[in-house]
Amino acid sequence: MRQLCVIGSGYVGLVTGTCFADLGNKVTLVDIDERKIEMLQAGRMPIYEPGLAETVLRNTEAGRMRFTTAYEEGLHEAEFVFICVGTPSGVDGEADLQYVRAAAQTIAKTMRRALIVINKSTVPVGTGDWTTEIISSNQPQPVDFAVVSCPEFLREGSALADFMHPDRTVLGSTNRAAAETVAELYAPLDAPIVITDIRTAEMIKYASNAFLATRISFINEISIICERLGADVTEVARGMGIDKRIGPHFLQAGVGFGGSCFPKDVKALANMAQTHGMHPQLLNAVMEINAFQRRQITLKAREMLGGSVSGKTVAILGLAFKENTDDIRESPALTVARSLLNQGATVKAYDPVAMGNASRDVTGITLCDSPYGAAEASDALLVLTPWNEFKHLDMKRVLKSMRRPILIDGRNMYSPEELRAIGFEYRGVGRGYNGAGASDNGGGDSPAH
Ligand code: UDX
Repeated sequence: MRQLCVIGSGYVGLVTGTCFADLGNKVTLVDIDERKIEMLQAGRMPIYEPGLAETVLRNTEAGRMRFTTAYEEGLHEAEFVFICVGTPSGVDGEADLQYVRAAAQTIAKTMRRALIVINKSTVPVGTGDWTTEIISSNQPQPVDFAVVSCPEFLREGSALADFMHPDRTVLGSTNRAAAETVAELYAPLDAPIVITDIRTAEMIKYASNAFLATRISFINEISIICERLGADVTEVARGMGIDKRIGPHFLQAGVGFGGSCFPKDVKALANMAQTHGMHPQLLNAVMEINAFQRRQITLKAREMLGGSVSGKTVAILGLAFKENTDDIRESPALTVARSLLNQGATVKAYDPVAMGNASRDVTGITLCDSPYGAAEASDALLVLTPWNEFKHLDMKRVLKSMRRPILIDGRNMYSPEELRAIGFEYRGVGRGYNGAGASDNGGGDSPAH
């Protein structure tokens, strides 16, 4: 059993701490937010993540996990401290490092024994070296430490499973022995471990997320072309994905990527390139296509409603940036909702878990207690988050209750043929003959890119 301290009780910190406790280590989770720590001590989760509450409970009951606002308590016996604090976007898209700086300073002032400091927050290349300097210059007396970068690759909604079954663990340090000691913590996960220098590890994180975001923007651009030319992007992606060199993942066209990572990380990487005198053309295009993809949904709604959404009632199913999370950060659904409200529409919405967060972020949306309640008496229905429960709706009931039978399937969840057969005017994303109503002249009716 090793003694770990985790700083930060957001997704990354909470999942990392909980999973390490589940692997048999002793974990103290520290957060300066008293409200969050009180919630956790009372067994309530500050975020929604499948399986998290049960696993936290199991480990607190077994005495392997506790929560505190005091760094002293967290660092008292710790051999490892994980920095898992937020790195929001600054004004130009650069990562705002104030929380990482504060955590490093407090660690430096509090530590009394040799410590390996592991950075899990996504930080600009070079931050590991900067963290080393901050700790050295803030220690009241010299105590041994090493900084290791260990970027997280957890997806919200499946974060615990991702932690326990990673494709790889990346460790970067100028101190190889420290990286190898951290590797021992990850050894039970039985996945490949890449040990490299600290800047390369930091870059692996940005490059991985930027690549996945690029795949999504790529297929979204293809979806626009498919729609114009009468092809079906879902079939195109399937046909492409069987090629082992391409692979099937992250090729689902839709409303564009959101969440706390992809938008922020692509922006931050582009910002790093720009500040070093480069012109990141591909990254800029990835962001531009992503913004356009969201706008497309509103444009489609406007077009199908006869040129204007003003005075119309539009129902939105799904507010979270993706399924199985209550996270609404950079959620495409909220961009669409804001745009519809600005254009004078009445917006009704339903999401299984994200309505509380959404209502704090956007005012003016009428929240409904079921998908059916949202659809009732609406002129158009927009499905924007692919929650499983939306796949199994009674679509005849939905249709009957609507004022007009317009359905925009922002995640290509439904069969266009089936929905048209029961009477919907259906539009998907990039679904030529099938979904966009394009005829054999290849003339889809989506707005020009
Ligand atoms: C992502 C990375 O996957 C993870 O490794 C990293 O550490 C944090 O960022 P997450 O933000 O939880 O995880 O979500 P992810 O499942 O990757 O999806 C990101 C966004 O892309 C979502 O909005 C999702 O709906 C969208 N997406 C994903 C698509 O539009 N199409 C796809 O094919 C896949």
